[in-house]
Amino acid sequence: MRTYITTPIYYVNAVPHVGTATTTLLADAQARYHRMQGLDTWFLTGTDEHAQKVSDAAIAAGETPQAFVDKVSQSFVEAWKFLDCRYDTFIRTSEDRHKDVVREVFQRLEKSGDIYLGVYEGWYSVADETFFRDTDVDDNGIVKETGAKVERIREDVHYFRLSAYGERLKEHILTNPGFLIPDTRRNEVLAFIEQGLRDIAISRKNAGWGIEVPGDSSKVVYVWFDALINYLTESGWPKNPAWNQTWPATAHLMAKEIFTRFHATLWPAMLMALDLPLPKHVVGHGWWVVRDEEGLLGKASKSKGNIPTPQAVVEKLVDASGANPLVARDALRYYLLRDIRFSDDTEFALSMLQSRYNAELGNDLGNVLNRVLKAGYFGGTLPTEAALDAGLQADALKAKDAYIAALATYDWGTALQAVNGLLACVNRYLATTAPWKAAKAGNAADVDTAIYNALEGVRFAAVLLLPAMPHAAGEVLRQLGLSPDVASGDFDRLTTFGALPFGGQTAVGDVIFPRLAFPVPTVEAAPKAAKSEQKSSGETKPVDQTSPAADATSSEITIDDFIKVQFRIADITHAEKIEGAKKLLRLEVQLGEEKRQIVSGIADSYTPEELIGMQIVVVYNLKPAKLRGVESQGMLLAATDEDGKAILLQPAKRVVSGAEVR
Ligand code: MSP
Repeated sequence: MRTYITTPIYYVNAVPHVGTATTTLLADAQARYHRMQGLDTWFLTGTDEHAQKVSDAAIAAGETPQAFVDKVSQSFVEAWKFLDCRYDTFIRTSEDRHKDVVREVFQRLEKSGDIYLGVYEGWYSVADETFFRDTDVDDNGIVKETGAKVERIREDVHYFRLSAYGERLKEHILTNPGFLIPDTRRNEVLAFIEQGLRDIAISRKNAGWGIEVPGDSSKVVYVWFDALINYLTESGWPKNPAWNQTWPATAHLMAKEIFTRFHATLWPAMLMALDLPLPKHVVGHGWWVVRDEEGLLGKASKSKGNIPTPQAVVEKLVDASGANPLVARDALRYYLLRDIRFSDDTEFALSMLQSRYNAELGNDLGNVLNRVLKAGYFGGTLPTEAALDAGLQADALKAKDAYIAALATYDWGTALQAVNGLLACVNRYLATTAPWKAAKAGNAADVDTAIYNALEGVRFAAVLLLPAMPHAAGEVLRQLGLSPDVASGDFDRLTTFGALPFGGQTAVGDVIFPRLAFPVPTVEAAPKAAKSEQKSSGETKPVDQTSPAADATSSEITIDDFIKVQFRIADITHAEKIEGAKKLLRLEVQLGEEKRQIVSGIADSYTPEELIGMQIVVVYNLKPAKLRGVESQGMLLAATDEDGKAILLQPAKRVVSGAEVR
């Protein structure tokens, strides 16, 4: 039996952006992971081509709908190629094989009495391609949930007897806890069914585009009824005798807006009516949301023009870091997979991408590799023997277990967090074993043990990262002297701690993840020294983080003095300049449940935009002080670089907000 994974089929005239890319990446990473495990895996994506808005767009472009869709579906093919999403089939609903299956379904359900004729009078939104109830629409004719305009229609239509399947659906959901993922969405679906399912109109008047209703050319099949069937079309049902090798699907992946109504209710009911098995998992992730000028978060969508294409982000990444374009592409893949959440929405921001990239890819992964491969004590040949470090081995296997458990529910964020946790262990291992010291002391066996185990930890992590970052993780393997190509079924062998061959030659290459600093427009030339600003307030100077620490360290303190200072991890949620103070920024930070504001003299080192989303270290129990009349409730920690710029201290990987630092 196949592992069959699908994305939604995207509206063909939409522009692929980082939102649509996220679902495709989740499916791609999952498919790569299953292929690595040696499972027969099938990954389907494609385009949904019969929407009314498609024919409207074709007419506006002066083209026939078919010529139009043939052209625009290419933008999806290109976007997925750019992101190296290796689907097995790109299905298009205008293909004949799909039209045949839709007609077959229609006829069978008409015969069984699940489809009947009636009249629909009510609201329809072309933008959402959805029929809405009066209660869904406000007084201005706008859908409350989506903001789309509706039109009033009165048409003879075919209905699908959805109301007959509520109880069976509920029972299926309750007896198959893994059917709907995540649990929060499962509960929403149960509540939706509880309200009572109503029969749904599944044909519309024929305006010259769509699949004609069998035996009634005045109507076309409603686009959602048509589109959902694509998943079944791909299996070859009903003509191909082997259709049940592919059906039921293992997982349909999508974002939340098309989860409850369509994939978790209508589609399973259609399958029940056809007497076909239901997909094993229906997985709904949250949205990427972006902040508007007023600071409010809203769905990222191309129509609002507030979300970039993957190509645009990668271009920026390359410009701002000098990374190889394929590495930059993988860094975007990593960020989207690492940060998309299943139960909640996530803010999409380049500053967040930057902090993931610098902290987890540049520091945790890249640095540890460079620290060994380029170290003076390492000559480029792996040790010919070394004992495995039991602690690191346990860390690696624990990370692998957490990774596998997370991927059983398609949760790439948690899986990648586990890999990052392993890399933190490798960094700690290297710091503790300190092979540079052992080398100085002439202790060759200890040097070999440290080199071997640290590089083995990196290799192990790189294998787990391959599905998310095929090129960049492959590059890590290449620098370790290994092949980046993993044969199907190699997962278990490669995730055995100690699989790094002894005596191999490593290959020193470029820094894989060069530091990323997105350029931000400079409002004014940053002043070099603005000490007067702190003094002019006439207050204490707790927030001058940019001043070198030399003065402060001139006298010794005891541990008793030191432990009085509480350090905590804070998330910067907002940052802005303080009017009239060239060097000061007002930051809003979150420390667990607590919100605080901190005034800091770092305006010549950081722009407000790049600070938002960063995790920093703050002195938590400092007496509040006022700077330029603004209260500062703590102080952040920063080092100073050669140019006198403040460099904020950050945890090596993201930790829980408010975590204590010891
Ligand atoms: N054509 C229908 C799907 C039919 S499936 C039988 C459709 N297409 S769509 O082009 O609008 O794509 C919707 C999908 O795009 C979402 O389910 C999700 O996978 C993805 N996303 C679109 N915007 C998104 C965000 N802002 N954030 C995350 N995913 C987003 O609906």
